[in-house]
Amino acid sequence: MTRSPFRPSFGTNPPTVAGRDAVVAEFADALDSGPGARGRAALFTGNRGIGKTVMLNESEAVARERGWVVVSETATPGLLDRITRESLPELADLLRQGPREQRRVSGVHLPANLGGVDFELPAAESPGGLRTQLNALTDELERNGTGLLLTLDEVHSRRARDDVAQLCAVVQHAFREERPVAFAAAGLPAAVQDLLSEDVSTFLRRARRYVLEPLTPVAAEEALRVPVVDNGRRIGSAALTRAAAATYGYPFLVQLVGDQAWRQDASSEEITEDHVAVAVEASLREVGALVHEPALNDLSETDRAFVKVMVEDEGESAIADVERRLGRDHGYVSRYRSRLIVAGIIEPTRRGYVDFTIPYMREFVRANRDRL
Ligand SMILES: Nc1ncnc2c1ncn2[C@@H]1O[C@H](COP(=O)(O)OP(=O)(O)OP(=O)(O)O)[C@@H](O)[C@H]1O
Ligand SMILES: [Mg+2]
Repeated sequence: MTRSPFRPSFGTNPPTVAGRDAVVAEFADALDSGPGARGRAALFTGNRGIGKTVMLNESEAVARERGWVVVSETATPGLLDRITRESLPELADLLRQGPREQRRVSGVHLPANLGGVDFELPAAESPGGLRTQLNALTDELERNGTGLLLTLDEVHSRRARDDVAQLCAVVQHAFREERPVAFAAAGLPAAVQDLLSEDVSTFLRRARRYVLEPLTPVAAEEALRVPVVDNGRRIGSAALTRAAAATYGYPFLVQLVGDQAWRQDASSEEITEDHVAVAVEASLREVGALVHEPALNDLSETDRAFVKVMVEDEGESAIADVERRLGRDHGYVSRYRSRLIVAGIIEPTRRGYVDFTIPYMREFVRANRDRL
């Protein structure tokens, strides 16, 4: 039997991208609506494993389908240097080469219809640096009826904050001058909120914001069923419903459960309810180590104390109960409540109540309370 089509690892595109059609279509629309369109700057936020990087990949695919050039980057130290000294010069090289001699360069993509263009990129150290380069490049792309998409993952990273600010300023200029440029960034909600409030970039603040939510049950079932069927196996509706329900629509769990269910007996034609039951158990162990634990490790002692008293409840927790259990007043608990919301660990459910955002966090904290 074929190997598992599922992709339970971060940043890797799933076999079926479910439930994001509307967002992808909106970005595609923005590319089609001409320079300066607000939606040409998109900011994806959402919890760990919700599918932000996948949305950047999808945005890039949409741009390439339209013959756009793509530079995909991550906000790590040296960001600006990499763009001005590597990505853009590589793009310029590709533009000069005829379509047939083109090689693939990581992070840089050129559509098939381009190439063989007589184009000189200003040097990285020329006055104006990135801005001068971007102007020259977009002038050339515009002449060819195309444009440039820049994607930036982990935009919230503190280690590249100055570079991100500078990059955004340059892209903002390009938008103002109605150049054929689009920009898509992704980051964790907490950290992005910090970034925006620190006045790093008005441009980012005005970008169209997409808060990525868990998949609906229908989308989660699609994400599980299509890869199974496409790869020559079957899954009954009871097994499918059970698998999808266990994921709570959390994309990373969809891939984990799908992968585990596939592997239970890869030689049988059908994935059964029994396979799914074992797969869910195995997936919960993995998601603890891969998602819950790192998320909790990022928190302060007090944040964790808040989380630990929440797990005394079966579902949502009343803030009044948290105050009582911690023996702290309302002001104190409110502060930590806000911090945990910004960090994407909990969310308000109704007035005076909060619950966990990542599925199975409660179970994980209960099982590991003593060592957390
Ligand atoms: N729409 C989707 N349908 C099905 N699976 C998805 C979807 N989006 C993401 N996934 C899967 O979920 C997992 C996490 O996706 P991704 O790496 O994009 O998350 P992320 O939000 O960037 O996480 P992080 O915050 O850790 O960077 C991957 O295994 C990916 O294949
Ligand atoms: Mg990511």
